[in-house]
Amino acid sequence: PRYARITGTGSYLPPRRLTNAQLAAELAQSGVETSDEWIVERTGIRARHFAATDVACSDLAVEAARHALEAAGRQAAEIDLIIVATSTPDMVFPSTACIVQHKLGVAGCPAFDLQAVCSGFVYALSVADAMIRTGAASRALVIGAEVFSRILDFKDRTTCVLFGDGAGAVVLEASDTPGILATELHADGSHVGILCVPGTVAGGHVTGDPLLKMDGQAVFKLAVRVLDEAARAVLAKAGRQEADVDWLIPHQANIRIMQGTAKKLKLPLEKLVVTVDEHGNTSAASVPLALDHAVRSGRVKPGDTVMLEGVGGGFTWGAVLLDL
Ligand code: ACO
Repeated sequence: PRYARITGTGSYLPPRRLTNAQLAAELAQSGVETSDEWIVERTGIRARHFAATDVACSDLAVEAARHALEAAGRQAAEIDLIIVATSTPDMVFPSTACIVQHKLGVAGCPAFDLQAVCSGFVYALSVADAMIRTGAASRALVIGAEVFSRILDFKDRTTCVLFGDGAGAVVLEASDTPGILATELHADGSHVGILCVPGTVAGGHVTGDPLLKMDGQAVFKLAVRVLDEAARAVLAKAGRQEADVDWLIPHQANIRIMQGTAKKLKLPLEKLVVTVDEHGNTSAASVPLALDHAVRSGRVKPGDTVMLEGVGGGFTWGAVLLDL
């Protein structure tokens, strides 16, 4: 049998880091009131990174991709599939993946974007896994990259304090031994309205609202339920138990959702990888960013069993169980 295995991880954060206090001071200038205490207590977020205005999603993606290629000991020319998970692409079209391919100095292999908001990386990794197992690809670059700062309404304190910019990537290669053990993806379009950027481009104008809208409490409730269901389903598919999981790397949106998920799975909190404190919610970039930070810090090691989980707009959700 043919499997897919992660052979390298990488990530990139734009240099401009804002603490809650710095963000609160900036927001205060336009009459928007918030505080470090509120943000930390409700979300666990302490800081986030924002890209400069002339930096595009593809710029962050390329940096993360280069680090992942280096870790895998691969050249860009050896890659035969590029998937970029993003909801903040450089352009309406062509895809950010095509722009990334060109910036990496290569051409020819299939490249496409995958849009599943904060579940984007888990979706993209599942698609790449399926394509590798069927023989459609052998060496994939799977990237999650976002510039959510571009779609934030800085007059809405209930959302603008939650998100950040960044990118994470993995190289996923065909292998005789299993890396990815099971994947599980879901969507329910009846919840479109609770988390969306409702605008679009038409007739030469932006029509509708181009900024993020969220019903935080509705998202919270749904997220806690579906993350638990997805975790149990992916374990069952792989024939594994909760106790087999060495590391849980859920979408980094809110520490309370993440800890709730770990507790329901009876996983000690030491097994939960947390980067939301330093990155905020980076949507499709959050899971590969957290994975790369955990690998580079030496916490997550080759041979460890890791559960990745995504949840976000759509509503979409899913999980990937893998041996690193
Ligand atoms: N600073 C200060 N006060 C604030 C702020 C802020 N930034 N934002 C809201 N408040 C106030 C509200 O106005 C409200 O005041 P009121 O009681 O006088 O009306 C009070 O704080 C409580 O607001 P709630 O919305 O009830 O706060 P809650 O505890 O639900 O926390 C939060 C809000 C953090 C958004 C939470 O609901 C949450 O995390 N939801 C999930 C969000 C999420 O995970 N989204 C991403 C998942 S998918 C994706 O990533 C795209």
